[in-house]
Amino acid sequence: MLEVTHLKQVYPDGTCAISDLSFRLEPGQRVALVGANGAGKTSLLLSLMGVLPLAQGQVRVGDTTLSRQTVDEIRSWMGLVFQAPDDQLFMPVVREDVAFGPRNFGKSPAETNEIVDQVLAQLGISHLADKSTTKLSGGEKRMVSIATVLAMEPQVLLFDEPTAFLDPKARRKLIHLLRKLSQTQLIATHDLPFACECCDRVLILSHGSLVADGDPRTLLYDQDQMDAWGIEAIGYAEF
Ligand SMILES: Nc1ncnc2c1ncn2[C@@H]1O[C@H](COP(=O)(O)OP(=O)(O)O)[C@@H](O)[C@H]1O
Ligand SMILES: [Mg+2]
Repeated sequence: MLEVTHLKQVYPDGTCAISDLSFRLEPGQRVALVGANGAGKTSLLLSLMGVLPLAQGQVRVGDTTLSRQTVDEIRSWMGLVFQAPDDQLFMPVVREDVAFGPRNFGKSPAETNEIVDQVLAQLGISHLADKSTTKLSGGEKRMVSIATVLAMEPQVLLFDEPTAFLDPKARRKLIHLLRKLSQTQLIATHDLPFACECCDRVLILSHGSLVADGDPRTLLYDQDQMDAWGIEAIGYAEF
């Protein structure tokens, strides 16, 4: 369970990225987070991970409330897949990158190896284990990024624009994967057909506030409402 109550986040330059945001995700829910550029999606994900300090409000994962004392514990429950895989991958070889998290959480070398093998197999990328992380395709990089996060065995997964830079086939593979994962998922995305296919709930952010929470198949096709929130609805075309 992830619960956010009256969350406010302000950058050092005074920009208020999130104001008075509250929502709750139930275990196993897969929820899209949609909003125009600058709406506050990335800021929200970084706040949930304790990367950006909260100006006000609370983040709770299970029974644990995010604070300076609990941030490490929260990060062991929750994993963030960054928008740019290059921000996530930093070890020279895939296997080492996926092993980094579990090793850091104190797993033995044997346990770590077992987790790495299991996660790579789960994502269908065992053949990439010994490959250089700088020599992967965009789709492979995305899958390896997800593997580094899954290896830490989180309960809640946060994704920032996971379909960005993917070709249609890699995007399809990602959709299959996300639908199979049992973790609670919050997925920031501009890819509205993806949100409809993958998620049964959408949170819409506008200027840092939650303006709608409901069924993606209803909300994302509502041209007038979507216009008001600065987002292009599905089905809009100008030939
Ligand atoms: N490091 C930063 N310092 C100051 N303002 C920032 C910073 N990062 C983002 N912002 C501002 O916060 C707001 C939300 O941005 P962001 O969370 O990146 O939106 P989104 O991910 O929805 O595109 C925007 O107004 C943006 O300009
Ligand atoms: Mg963003």
